[in-house]
Amino acid sequence: MRKTTFFVALFLLMSLPAAAVRSGNPTDKEMNRFISNLMMQMTLEEKVGQLCQMPDGYITGPDNSRVSLEPLISEGKIGSLLGVCGVEETRKFQDAAMKSRLKIPLIFGMDVIHGYRTGFPLPLAEAASFDLAAIEMSSRCAAREAAASGLHWTFAPMVDISWDARWGRVMEGAGEDPYYGAKVAAARVKGLQGDNLADTATILSCIKHFGGYGAPMAGKDYNSVDMSLSHFANFYMPPYKAGAEAGAGSFMSAFNDFNNVPCTANSFLLRDLLKNSWGFEGFVVSDWGSVGELINHRYAADTKDAALKAITAGLDMEMSTQCYADNLVDLVKEGKVPMRLVDDAVRRILEQKYRLGLFEDPYRYCNEAREREVVGSAQSREEARHVAERSIVLLKNNHNILPLSPEVKKVALVGALSKSKTDMCGSWTCADIEETVTLYDALTKRGLTVDYNDGYDMENNGISNLSQTLASARDADVVIVAMGERASYTGEMASRGEISISPEQQRLVSELVKTGKPVVVLLMCGRPVIFNEVRDAAPAILCTWWLGSEAGNAICNVLWGEYNPSGKLPMSFPTHGGQIPLNYQYKSTGRPTANGGWCTRYRDITTEPAYPFGYGLSYTTFGYSDPKVEPSATPGTYATVTVDVTNTGKRKGEEVVQLYVRDEVASITRPIKELKGFEKIALEPGETRTVKFPITDEQLGFYDNQLKYRVEKGDFTFMVGIDSQNLKSVPFTLK
Ligand code: GLC
Repeated sequence: MRKTTFFVALFLLMSLPAAAVRSGNPTDKEMNRFISNLMMQMTLEEKVGQLCQMPDGYITGPDNSRVSLEPLISEGKIGSLLGVCGVEETRKFQDAAMKSRLKIPLIFGMDVIHGYRTGFPLPLAEAASFDLAAIEMSSRCAAREAAASGLHWTFAPMVDISWDARWGRVMEGAGEDPYYGAKVAAARVKGLQGDNLADTATILSCIKHFGGYGAPMAGKDYNSVDMSLSHFANFYMPPYKAGAEAGAGSFMSAFNDFNNVPCTANSFLLRDLLKNSWGFEGFVVSDWGSVGELINHRYAADTKDAALKAITAGLDMEMSTQCYADNLVDLVKEGKVPMRLVDDAVRRILEQKYRLGLFEDPYRYCNEAREREVVGSAQSREEARHVAERSIVLLKNNHNILPLSPEVKKVALVGALSKSKTDMCGSWTCADIEETVTLYDALTKRGLTVDYNDGYDMENNGISNLSQTLASARDADVVIVAMGERASYTGEMASRGEISISPEQQRLVSELVKTGKPVVVLLMCGRPVIFNEVRDAAPAILCTWWLGSEAGNAICNVLWGEYNPSGKLPMSFPTHGGQIPLNYQYKSTGRPTANGGWCTRYRDITTEPAYPFGYGLSYTTFGYSDPKVEPSATPGTYATVTVDVTNTGKRKGEEVVQLYVRDEVASITRPIKELKGFEKIALEPGETRTVKFPITDEQLGFYDNQLKYRVEKGDFTFMVGIDSQNLKSVPFTLK
């Protein structure tokens, strides 16, 4: 009898939740039971261990003295490592975790930002494709290769909206528009996580950097961010929210303060908005050292105060600093941190480990055969080239110099960037640099005679051997100039006050144009840059960004028309640095620029961008009918905007048809236009397609200063066209 009673009691005890079980999802019942049972066995020290993430020699911030990790892991004092990758390395550390008392597996995270060993275009470049399927493909390939290399988690997608090209991390995001940024965020989460996190070709995503990191004052990385809640909600929040709604398993808190409270200890962001209002069930990891940096912010007095403020605000896992490791046990014992806060953080982390299948098999992602087969595969290369081709933006093509004729035999190639494997991969790359195909490689592989000259010394900012370079140009069928900035000019801690391409580099292009030979400029950059002299002088310009492992092949396929460029700019390109921050969703103000005279403008420079958001040409042309507004019988859809788009040229091409909306009168000031729809379509010469845009709350609404989403009756203007400036309008009234 006693035995039976004991087992019944044990069963009941085992099924009790150790902490409030958050996920009511019935399929999670087994997970909840497993985790509750595990947490009942964990000591406070072991729980705190799960909240600690350490690097192993992978330094992406102020260095933390490297400690021997394996003993700490075996004592259950570390729950995650960052920067450890490869089946052999991850297995080694997982072995250490299996020596711990409860054998809780480690979760391995790393910055897999745009491809893994097969490098994909910069995220900003991929955003230029306006091809969500291609963007999802890129993330899926990155996940497939990273998971095959023992990784479980990437600190991606970075979804920070930015209007400031001085900020080096614009290369990592999807540009200036929140509507588009939200679509990209969801596509990346889907590509990375798939439908099943336990699948060995998917990894946990991480929406970063929450929040508003892309709006640092003066464009200086890490600087303060201060904005009204409605400004945050309408222009910066949508991609974060979309990432959470897409099921991202983690968020990363940003370095900056947000309205005077550091994000890493900002309970409005982490608890009120993310966890309570949006119902986010994943966990929040701090950015590198940002818990400890609460002291630098002068928001915390010491590491104990920092730990107290971060855990209270909802920061679940501490990256690289050790405030939690050194203080959380004492804070709980002293009654300053309720156990339920620690339990909630632990449960959130254990749930993601469970979903990854790590409890079932801690070595699930450690398979050498799969690593050899998947990483750097032909499939990955083909996908990288596919995405790279679609990321290229045709900015200018006078006299249809492009596409180049197959008759072209001799190319004068100018510029060191055309040979640089490192630069082709861009910042935040995991790519196998040696496997990169540069423009020079691809041109020579096509059997062309390539006469190469540096033309310009990137480091000393000077033209070199001008006469030799000009002679080469005169002797060639076409001149191809790789112009731009080093890949290292963008990325983290890479803000620049001057974003113009050096005058000397631009003068070289002008001299080449004077030879009378056809000159094609390839703009290689990680941000919008200013190059007004070249913009005027060069007959043909392609923005090729940094395109990754298949860069050279993708560029050549576009140069010779095997792929007709279809990219559109995801960020406005300034005419002058004084215009920054620059965006197309500006407000009328009480003295609109368009009125002239006493209006909002500069005395000395234009207010117009060099190239507007959404701009990009094709080797063919497209015509648009006047848009129409049709009634809709679909519940929740107020109307449908329709437009007929025709390929009016002689070559098949793709067009990104864009819908912008203006709320003519509203209860807060609203932008003169906002992107609220886009569709990328392929058309044969002469073909016409009717594109339809449903008008729902998403197209008409906005957040007010109480963060309430409002759709107000009244007049609107819908605009359709090829970019944010070339548009045809049609009025609409919401009754
Ligand atoms: C860096 C970056 C962040 C990255 C993290 C780990 O400082 O801000 O985006 O994921 O540290 O490398």
